[in-house]
Amino acid sequence: VCASVAWCFAEDYVLDDKPGLGRTFDGVGGLSGGGATSRLLVNYDEPYRGRILDYLFKPSFGASLHILKVEIGGDAQSTDGTEPSHMHYENDENYFRGYEWWLMKEAKRRNPNITLIGLPWAFPGWVGRGKNWPYNFPDVTASYVVSWVIGAKQHHDLDINYIGIWNERSFDSTYIKLLRYTLDKNGLENVKIIASDNLWEPITLYVLRDGELSDAVDVLGAHYPGTTTVMDALQTEKKLWSSEDYSTFNNEVGGGCWARILNQNYVNGRMTATISWNLVASYYEMLPFGRDGLMTAEEPWSGNYVVESPIWITAHTTQFTQPGWVYLQTVGHLMQGGSYVALTDQKGNLTIVIETMTHDHSECIRPPLPPYKVVPQNVTFYLKGSFAKISKMEVWRSKFDFTTKKSFFFQKQDPLKLFDGSFTLNLDVDEVYTLSTITTAQKGSYPDPPPSAPFPKTYKDDFNVGNPYFSEAPDFADQTGVFEYFINLTDPGPHVFTLRQVVVERPVTWEADADQTISVLGDYSWQNLTVTSDVYIETVKTGGVFIGARVDQGGGSVRSAKGIFFWVFADGTYKVTGDLQKTNVLAEGPSGTRAHVWHTLCLTIKGDYASGTLNGSPLWNTTVTAVPNNGWVAIGTSSFELAQFDNFSVEAQ
Ligand code: GAL
Ligand code: CA
Repeated sequence: VCASVAWCFAEDYVLDDKPGLGRTFDGVGGLSGGGATSRLLVNYDEPYRGRILDYLFKPSFGASLHILKVEIGGDAQSTDGTEPSHMHYENDENYFRGYEWWLMKEAKRRNPNITLIGLPWAFPGWVGRGKNWPYNFPDVTASYVVSWVIGAKQHHDLDINYIGIWNERSFDSTYIKLLRYTLDKNGLENVKIIASDNLWEPITLYVLRDGELSDAVDVLGAHYPGTTTVMDALQTEKKLWSSEDYSTFNNEVGGGCWARILNQNYVNGRMTATISWNLVASYYEMLPFGRDGLMTAEEPWSGNYVVESPIWITAHTTQFTQPGWVYLQTVGHLMQGGSYVALTDQKGNLTIVIETMTHDHSECIRPPLPPYKVVPQNVTFYLKGSFAKISKMEVWRSKFDFTTKKSFFFQKQDPLKLFDGSFTLNLDVDEVYTLSTITTAQKGSYPDPPPSAPFPKTYKDDFNVGNPYFSEAPDFADQTGVFEYFINLTDPGPHVFTLRQVVVERPVTWEADADQTISVLGDYSWQNLTVTSDVYIETVKTGGVFIGARVDQGGGSVRSAKGIFFWVFADGTYKVTGDLQKTNVLAEGPSGTRAHVWHTLCLTIKGDYASGTLNGSPLWNTTVTAVPNNGWVAIGTSSFELAQFDNFSVEAQ
């Protein structure tokens, strides 16, 4: 046997707790938001929605996640849409907007021990007092963020465990200290701070040089660290997390990426938590980073969802460990490529996770992966110290097979009987093994969901919902501004229940939001169709609204969206444009439209011919050139202004 390292043969590995243990494990997580990545999930019918949540959060079932991180909505575009703020305006507070509250509660219901994290991408405009910057009035920003934490507890009984600064943007030491102070002053000493959700530097240097800042920061969180860290970060003795990672298309290479980084973020970078952007791909696939989630649930209209390989790769770690377990010091690379980690609960349990992912089958979206080699190998593990007496371990195996496509994931093997504290495995390439004394793991399953189907060609919404559970109407994916159910208490007519755009000031942005507001819906491949909506401009003289079709862009490039946009304005005119910015004007003229009156707009497109009616009468028709051939339908406003929509419908061909 292998009594000391010097005697060991090349492919022997010792797992021992005698030399002491490594860092404490904090868990594996998923990120909802940054942004609007769970938008379509909420519109699934039961039982499918609950099943998707089970695959994500239910212990001993699927991904069984330890951590849920959510965006603190900032009314601004944060990748795949906007998420609503709990304070659209300074004197406004509402803790029932969006779906992150709901998601956190559903996660907590399944796993009461789940760690909750909140992080802003953007802030409502008033937080910046007119500047596109959240740190000029750090007290305003701190109390805005702390309100969210208090609201979570007060209205949803959710204890937020960690709070972040500003996603992948500048941090400010004064703000971080003030945030700590404001949390403490509100009795929230248990809420810890992560900084700075960007690169290891410069936050690490600041923490090393500023004792007060160091006291305020509990975790150094880096994004897409490529499994490595920096010496300075290790020196801080702070917890190191990959607080956002993955963002890779969720096919089997995506699963391979996830397997490699889940192990190697600790092996190479001593990171004790890894959080996937994103949790579940529940946004229109043609928005940026389509399907970059642990699983796919992008068809609430059909009920179809797909449990992708990253779910089972997650299970290899999450179902056999818990936050609070401790890594052994004896973790590392395998001689012929791949890696192994080992963790213990310090009560006799041991979990070993081994991965042999090859380079080309485990590349993530970023950063670039330097070349390396993996070949099949025999490895012998020797359990030492308190683990020497382990006599039996469960064995779970995944195999990625890129040639014959006979991959299998999270398959239970015969348990391993240990005699002299050692065992040998014949490892092929592109495999993941878990060996553990934990015996509660299960590969959860449900009957197949309904088959995939395109977005319905006929679609209608009158927004007549008296007491909506969610603030947003199904399937509308806001790309600039926020569109919410609204009740006109004073409306004598048929428009008591409407959809209203509510952001009236440009937010402190994370990406380049458009200067107009826009929400998209439908099938990106739609070409010929009729879209109709009642519209209500609320801003006299300068207000305006549109309905649109063949809208080709959302996310960070929403500003340059092209399509066919039919606008009416409060000044009594209309326009038809080929772009959201209204630079390509296809038709224009008088319309007689004004504020505070309901009008009905209808836009029909067939080939390169488009026409529009106003209140049922033809208003314009034109041939359209230099516009996209297909895209989503949309509604929106001419600027950040209040406006309402009702009786929305689409008839697509
Ligand atoms: C991250 C960002 C996420 C998302 C992701 C896409 O940098 O924090 O919100 O945009 O990139 O890869
Ligand atoms: Ca209505």
